[in-house]
Amino acid sequence: MSDSPLLSVRGLVKDFPLRKGLFGAREWKRAVDDVSFDVTRGKTLALVGESGSGKSTVGLMLLDLLEPTAGEIRYAGHSFSSRSRKERLALRQEMQVVFQDPYASLNARMTVREALLEGMIVHRMGGSHAERLDRAAQLLGEVGLSPGALDRYPHEFSGGQRQRIAIARALSVNPHFIVLDEPTSALDVSVQSQVLNLLRRLQREHGLTYLFITHNLGVVEYLADEVAVMEAGRIVEHGPVVETFENPREAYTRRLLGSIPTLDPEHRHVTAAAGGFFRTPDKHG
Ligand SMILES: Nc1ncnc2c1ncn2[C@@H]1O[C@H](COP(=O)(O)OP(=O)(O)O)[C@@H](O)[C@H]1O
Ligand SMILES: [Mg+2]
Repeated sequence: MSDSPLLSVRGLVKDFPLRKGLFGAREWKRAVDDVSFDVTRGKTLALVGESGSGKSTVGLMLLDLLEPTAGEIRYAGHSFSSRSRKERLALRQEMQVVFQDPYASLNARMTVREALLEGMIVHRMGGSHAERLDRAAQLLGEVGLSPGALDRYPHEFSGGQRQRIAIARALSVNPHFIVLDEPTSALDVSVQSQVLNLLRRLQREHGLTYLFITHNLGVVEYLADEVAVMEAGRIVEHGPVVETFENPREAYTRRLLGSIPTLDPEHRHVTAAAGGFFRTPDKHG
């Protein structure tokens, strides 16, 4: 059972409605086109590709925040489409997300304490209020912040600290799977590598499974086990990171790799810290 993938995606499609065409016919844009992949327990699959290639749309469907047009998603062997209401709620706890913009997961008017307690209360976790408070302080410690942060508001922190708070909030409900959608893309380079280190440590300590969406191939080298390359809604290449980067089959992948300063193994950390951005910056996050 532990060998089976935690997450399994087959033939996933998402069409978005465009403006009404001539004669009132609806026109559609296919943002995700027949996407299939597995994510192994405890591992990281990186989803890379240029802005608009469909990465975030895939992430939102996995999180049950967006309804697929077609295809099947199975989590721990259970199909999304045949879940009961109870299973659906349980999944909301199992799967968490960290977005590029911390304000997408942090309410500006909630203190850090409230942000960290909210999920535990919704999912009836942590026993008593005092126990939940202890857990909130402990979570802050895990992401490298002091308990003094509990009474403050998100805007009182730096970008890197805010992202640490968003990570602590995601962890607060003991998830097994986390979608990281460009979590470090808005941060300064030095802060980026600190947050990446944190994510790597948390993965090890909690046995977390990650889907890491990024347009930064340095990040992929640093953190991911496998990489899936998306182009115009489709996965055009998918494999272990090292093999794929050393021997890209697709011209698109080679072009993406060509925009990285260095992929020399001796310079991997430099690469991760220095970025290695695609030519088109990701506007959607
Ligand atoms: N809610 C939406 N309504 C209409 N089109 C959308 C919506 N979300 C995304 N799209 C379109 O779908 C495509 C894929 O977007 P997205 O998944 O955000 O790409 P990425 O995360 O790779 O930058 C883009 O063309 C985008 O404009
Ligand atoms: Mg995106």
